[in-house]
Amino acid sequence: MNKIKVGIIGTGYIGDSHIETIRRLGKLELTAVADVHYDLAKTKAEFFGVEKCYKSVDELIADKDIQVVHNCTPTNLHLEINEKIIRAGKHVFSEKPLGKTSAESAKMLEILKDYPDTVAGLNFCYRMNGLIQDAKNRIAAGEIGQPYLVHGSYLQDWLLYETDYNWRIEPEYTGVSRCVGDIGSHWMDLAQIMTGAKIVEVCANTVIALPVRKKPTTQVETFAVNTNQDYEEVKVETEDYAGVLLKFDNGASGIFQCSEISAGRKCFIDIEIDGSAASFQWNQQISDQMWKGHRDRNNEQIMRNPNIMTAQAKKYTHLAAGHPEGWNDAFKNNLDAYYGFIMEGKKMGKDPCDFATFKEGHYLMRLTEAIIKSGKERRWISLDEV
Ligand SMILES: NC(=O)c1ccc[n+]([C@@H]2O[C@H](COP(=O)([O-])OP(=O)(O)OC[C@H]3O[C@@H](n4cnc5c(N)ncnc54)[C@H](O)[C@@H]3O)[C@@H](O)[C@H]2O)c1
Repeated sequence: MNKIKVGIIGTGYIGDSHIETIRRLGKLELTAVADVHYDLAKTKAEFFGVEKCYKSVDELIADKDIQVVHNCTPTNLHLEINEKIIRAGKHVFSEKPLGKTSAESAKMLEILKDYPDTVAGLNFCYRMNGLIQDAKNRIAAGEIGQPYLVHGSYLQDWLLYETDYNWRIEPEYTGVSRCVGDIGSHWMDLAQIMTGAKIVEVCANTVIALPVRKKPTTQVETFAVNTNQDYEEVKVETEDYAGVLLKFDNGASGIFQCSEISAGRKCFIDIEIDGSAASFQWNQQISDQMWKGHRDRNNEQIMRNPNIMTAQAKKYTHLAAGHPEGWNDAFKNNLDAYYGFIMEGKKMGKDPCDFATFKEGHYLMRLTEAIIKSGKERRWISLDEV
């Protein structure tokens, strides 16, 4: 079998996960990595046994062997680098959020119109957990009746202290939103794909709980604790928290909150869909289980079990029941779906796919902007307004 040759740009926190996941899929060969911090890229290339290591984005993209490029750089570089990858005639797998603004994500959709054979995927990886795919199919088949309510949260604590710092704090890098764009977008993606409905109106309370932060004089790695004592005080312009009321196009209502300042919460994604017949609830930190709520009989605690999952979800589960699958496995499913699409010669916009597309990424950017606008203007915002 001819393996697909892959390059990765950005070998920071999430870059590592891309490297490991690519290595788990037999149909792929990780050919090269690149990072503006060449020493970091070199260390990773040596550790993971990657053949080539480049100093710049342009060098990696110019490598004729490479067919697909993963963009794992900070959000401010997504448009610029994705555009280069697409115009070089390569497939692109980008990190989310798709851009700093919806104008940027719209531009990427425009560019893609000239490259109909390009497969452009986005790493909204939580949706590819086997049980989420299973619940999606069960909800579509009517198992919980008509979805009435969708509620939950995505909570973290890694930016709780004023000394916590990362490029995500700064609009120059993160764009119009921090907490909603970075983690709320994952929750909204789950809400939309599980219900098969779109969020069309939002009403938000966005909060900057720490208006001033101590920015260290050296960059702090994502999720790492800052040990640098030298800092400057900076004014914060991006939200630490958002609480959002939602309306869906199928008539369902919802509410979610996202926070990066909730002590003790690490990657607490919780989502519940309450339908006319039953409810489903799932939490990412115990992602091998799902709860099903009933009114007239005992509730059920469902353990992921390949033997009794819906046929369409079986391809996204690999271990026997009782052997927990988690975040890494959802990520693997995501890349498996994306690369399967390429290998089968499928076309974006024509063939259905389970991985997130740039079109979906653009919609989530619009939702993010609507939430920020709603928070500023203190009113309901319809998606038509952004
Ligand atoms: N899908 C997920 O669950 C998930 C999780 C974490 C991060 N992310 C996304 O991944 C992206 C990166 O986040 P991160 O936490 O890994 O950040 P990070 O800061 O840890 O890593 C980014 C890397 O990009 C490199 N870089 C910066 N400018 C570059 C350039 N011009 N050329 C080449 N390399 C460059 C940096 O040196 C760094 O190594 C963000 O958009 C973030 O939202 C997604």
